[in-house]
Amino acid sequence: MAIDQRELRNVMGNFATGVTIITTKNAAGKPFGLTANAFSSLSLDPPLLLICVDKKVDCYACFDESQVFGVNFLSDDQDQLSNRFATKGIEKFEGVSYQLGELGVALLDGAAAHIECKVANAYEGGDHTIYVGEVQNAKVLGDRPLLFFRGKYFKLPQ
Ligand SMILES: Cc1cc2nc3c(=O)[nH]c(=O)nc-3n(C[C@H](O)[C@H](O)[C@H](O)COP(=O)(O)O)c2cc1C
Repeated sequence: MAIDQRELRNVMGNFATGVTIITTKNAAGKPFGLTANAFSSLSLDPPLLLICVDKKVDCYACFDESQVFGVNFLSDDQDQLSNRFATKGIEKFEGVSYQLGELGVALLDGAAAHIECKVANAYEGGDHTIYVGEVQNAKVLGDRPLLFFRGKYFKLPQ
């Protein structure tokens, strides 16, 4: 029996996660990004992680074009930034401070960690594509992660 989509979304929302903003760029080097919690560490040797990207996101073609992406672990005061990068049809980077990393992807100021990856593999995942990234650079910058559970943001206790 196929599970109802709304029910599936509800059940998945019970898995508590952190929140990332995945950044990438188009062929001209323009930055793009989206909020994503479908992220996992994958392998230490070689150093791999994975993300799952909806085939309908605006920046979908950028992963193919640039073959690079960044992962920004959000800090607990960045919930508005998370909402911004989950909103379609806006200039997401307007007014947002960031630096370009060595691979040319946006590394957002205030994030709890920055990771830069080259695309190592892409796999079919239904309405998403699973991108495996080979980690080129990674740095911890903070210790107050933004958490997501049942559609709401949370902070760790002080
Ligand atoms: C907490 C949270 C987690 C999300 N996780 C993902 C994800 O893992 N993969 C994905 O493709 N979209 C995810 N989204 C939805 C995208 O951020 C959203 O569709 C965004 O508008 C896509 O940007 P674009 O179409 O303007 O490029 C998430 C949204 C939120 C708020």
